[in-house]
Amino acid sequence: MPGAAIQTVLLLKMENTRIDSAAAATPEVRISALELPAPGFERFTFPRYRALLAGTEAPETMHERIAVGARLGDAPVGLAFYSRAFEDGAKRRLLSVMVSPLLRRHGYASRMLALGEALAVARGAQVLTATHSSQMPAVTAYEALIRSAAWSAPAEFEYRLAGKASWALQAAQDWAPFLARLETRGYGSTPWGEISQGDRERIAQMVESELPEADRQFEPFTPEKKVGLLPDLSLLLRRRGEIVGWILASQGAMPGSVYYSSGYVVHSVRRAGWLVGGVREVCQRQAERLGGDTLSVFETSPKNNEMRRFMDRQLKPYSVWTDIRYTSEKQIGATHGEATTAPVASA
Ligand SMILES: CC(C)(COP(=O)(O)OP(=O)(O)OC[C@H]1O[C@@H](n2cnc3c(N)ncnc32)[C@H](O)[C@@H]1OP(=O)(O)O)[C@@H](O)C(=O)NCCC(=O)NCCS
Repeated sequence: MPGAAIQTVLLLKMENTRIDSAAAATPEVRISALELPAPGFERFTFPRYRALLAGTEAPETMHERIAVGARLGDAPVGLAFYSRAFEDGAKRRLLSVMVSPLLRRHGYASRMLALGEALAVARGAQVLTATHSSQMPAVTAYEALIRSAAWSAPAEFEYRLAGKASWALQAAQDWAPFLARLETRGYGSTPWGEISQGDRERIAQMVESELPEADRQFEPFTPEKKVGLLPDLSLLLRRRGEIVGWILASQGAMPGSVYYSSGYVVHSVRRAGWLVGGVREVCQRQAERLGGDTLSVFETSPKNNEMRRFMDRQLKPYSVWTDIRYTSEKQIGATHGEATTAPVASA
């Protein structure tokens, strides 16, 4: 039909006009690998990585990281930042990806991720991983971006809840009758920094021969649990002097926050209030030592239904925020000598 043909030509002309004028008005955005440090790009990542990018903190391993930048003329307008390689060089983590708000939905993040992947493959990586929080402001955009770049669907891996440490003082009043009952049933505790050699041996014996197989992951003396451990804010829990559990605290990633990443109580005292009592006590210690406004953050696997129920029932009324953290990954390199079949994001 001739009418339809004319309409198509007109539309094409209009489309060309729009693209031409846009191209004339906007300098080209260039995507390239960055040499680190790369001052100017730090505002396109989380505060905790800014010193690395800016070069105010420069570890010797700086060159092992990967950074891809977007520039409009000379001005930084976006960044994709990756961790050093881990697991024998096979994996890297995408730490952050961000594009200046006015330049979003032009494909720049996709292009940065494509170049980041190519660089990671060239340095031997086979898998990229990334984590994000349900609290992140641009969560929909980020999830859509990694979906379009053929990453795996995000899977829940951590449930977190944070409250100001002063909640423990309020809870001491709200829970007064319950805490008094706990006391009469023999509740007691010892700060981690004051536990004796005998206590250590007793814990080792419990882990070795009394804890069910599935509970051995709660062993408190593993090297990972020692990293950043705060002995003053960690507690051994007792019933009439006998060790019945522990709560471990470590330095939180956010300034002024303490992570209570491990809380364990033996089966014979479960549902009897020991964890509630212990959690309240460590937070009171935190409020006294670090201030009532510092954050106490609790985390658990979303599959740990018992802990999640405990957090929701007992702690949520005092929380400042809760979130779910997700993990996603992408196969990018040859695995076991075979070429990957995973699609590669288009540049
Ligand atoms: C997430 C972010 C990096 C995407 O940057 P971008 O340059 O706009 O992304 P792209 O243009 O390359 O988008 C690629 C694809 O992702 C999807 N996408 C990106 N933003 C989207 C949005 N707001 N809504 C829906 N889909 C979106 C689309 O499928 C898009 O392709 P399309 O435009 O052809 O439909 C950007 O929104 C951002 O900087 N957000 C703030 C920082 C952030 O939260 N980063 C993630 C955690 S570190």
